[in-house]
Amino acid sequence: MQYSGLKNKTAIITGAGTGIGYAICELLTIAGANVVLNDVDKELATKAAKNLDAQHSGNCLPFDGDVGDVHIIDKMVDFALEKFGRIDFVVPNAGITLFGNFLEFTPASFQEVMRLNLQGAFFLAQRVAKEMIAQGDGGRMVMMSSQVGIRAYQQLAAYGMTKAALRMFAQNLAFELGQYGITVNAVAPGATLTERTEEEQPDYKGTWAKLNPNGRVGKPEDVAKTCLFLLSDEASHINGQTIPVDGGWTTAGKYPEDLL
Ligand SMILES: NC(=O)c1ccc[n+]([C@@H]2O[C@H](COP(=O)([O-])OP(=O)(O)OC[C@H]3O[C@@H](n4cnc5c(N)ncnc54)[C@H](O)[C@@H]3O)[C@@H](O)[C@H]2O)c1
Repeated sequence: MQYSGLKNKTAIITGAGTGIGYAICELLTIAGANVVLNDVDKELATKAAKNLDAQHSGNCLPFDGDVGDVHIIDKMVDFALEKFGRIDFVVPNAGITLFGNFLEFTPASFQEVMRLNLQGAFFLAQRVAKEMIAQGDGGRMVMMSSQVGIRAYQQLAAYGMTKAALRMFAQNLAFELGQYGITVNAVAPGATLTERTEEEQPDYKGTWAKLNPNGRVGKPEDVAKTCLFLLSDEASHINGQTIPVDGGWTTAGKYPEDLL
């Protein structure tokens, strides 16, 4: 099935030079949407956008910059408006996963995680919401939460807080922006094989697949397909929800060894 309401729409996707963000941009360009592909790494953003432009019919333009910075966010939204005239979709996908012992976690590391994961998503959504309201015909936002925002994990207190907050952010915005025809949902990926996660751990695939009832790790396309659905007309009555894309990981409870 092809989703409707994507062709000729304009999307901003952040942190999209690789991984899940790139997969979202790819599916959007295939669907005929205009895409502003952001990454903090200029070379990566340029290469990724060029690649998608060459492979698919969609209009994909790079915008490099750190989207934890509200000034960069404003410039990026201005750029999207200048190039494509309007904004219909936004996925604040850029996020930092900083592992660290809670007892030793520093204020500087804490600020780093909050700045990108929360400040970035909050002010991008705010600026885009203003444009969507002025355009007068609604819009769609998808927040990038995580399985780590649903259940607790060692070494991830700060990151987990931000990902749980993004679910609540989607709920709040759904409530505030629903009157303008704007829907705001979230996706919560489980262990997903991206360039970063593969680099972080040898045999990432084999290690994390064991946790999932379906016996495999996630692919960026798994998350991207869910995002595309939430951006499409077919999802117009879904608002304020978080969809886990985790092969069933979140459903599984653990028994102590002696009960098995
Ligand atoms: N991969 C997973 O297993 C997984 C699971 C749950 C949630 N997530 C979330 O999905 C999102 C994407 O994760 P991923 O693993 O695909 O990507 P990633 O962590 O590899 O990052 C993707 C891109 O973001 C860019 N980036 C980093 N900081 C940036 C900034 N300040 N401004 C703009 N771009 C920046 C990087 O250069 C990189 O190319 C993140 O929010 C992450 O928390 C990922």
